[in-house]
Amino acid sequence: MADIKSLQRAHPDYMEMFQELTDTSKSKEEITAVYDKWSNYEEIIKLHAPNRSLLGAKAFKAEYENLNKEAKILDIGAGTGLAAHELVKLGFTNIDALEPCETLANLAMKKNIYKKLYKAYLCKDRLPIEDNVYDIIYSVGVFAPGHAREDAFEELFRILKPGGQMMTITGEGYLKDPQMSNFEPRMAELEKEGILIRRKREILPFYSADENGPMNGMIFVLEKPAN
Ligand SMILES: C[S@@+](CC[C@H](N)C(=O)[O-])C[C@H]1O[C@@H](n2cnc3c(N)ncnc32)[C@H](O)[C@@H]1O
Repeated sequence: MADIKSLQRAHPDYMEMFQELTDTSKSKEEITAVYDKWSNYEEIIKLHAPNRSLLGAKAFKAEYENLNKEAKILDIGAGTGLAAHELVKLGFTNIDALEPCETLANLAMKKNIYKKLYKAYLCKDRLPIEDNVYDIIYSVGVFAPGHAREDAFEELFRILKPGGQMMTITGEGYLKDPQMSNFEPRMAELEKEGILIRRKREILPFYSADENGPMNGMIFVLEKPAN
């Protein structure tokens, strides 16, 4: 894990950018505008969270050991495709992307990882996707302050196939932010309503780092009940 001082030395603009990205007073369009300025996203992620995509892929492999390699996967908040690239290395061949930021999406689509790109936001609005399409929805670093939140759950469970699962990985610390205070309570409500089943909630050590040092991640696996 890189220490934050070397990160600041290499990218003096990093802390400012990071603060802008987690500024919960910004609208989703303003957050996208910050990402749009960030064409060196991968350089910074290599310092801030060098293991994140690999850790995610390790968790994915453990969870989906027996999953068909052609299973239909949607990588939400795909960014430049770092997380999905590791799934390709595991042999998965049928991955689509959902990403609202044009700059990052263009970089991702050049890598030939994804079959299809949806340029859309995760929120309560309807996604441009039919019901029951995906076997797995995967997300790394997307449910966070200023980013996607629990208001997207119902749409995501609409587009998952019955019996399909969403694996989502985020910073454990982000879950303590007031803007995320309804994230887990909403999961519990949706479970009571029969929309999802909570299968896993697990700490992922050394997921990333911020100015206070290494940060843990949290993995959730949520399943859409089979019909
Ligand atoms: C920290 S990056 C993670 C990117 C990628 N998953 C990775 O592991 O490198 C967060 C991504 O979520 C996207 N994002 C932010 N808010 C979003 C929202 N409301 N809906 C969908 N994507 C969003 C950003 O544009 C950005 O690409």
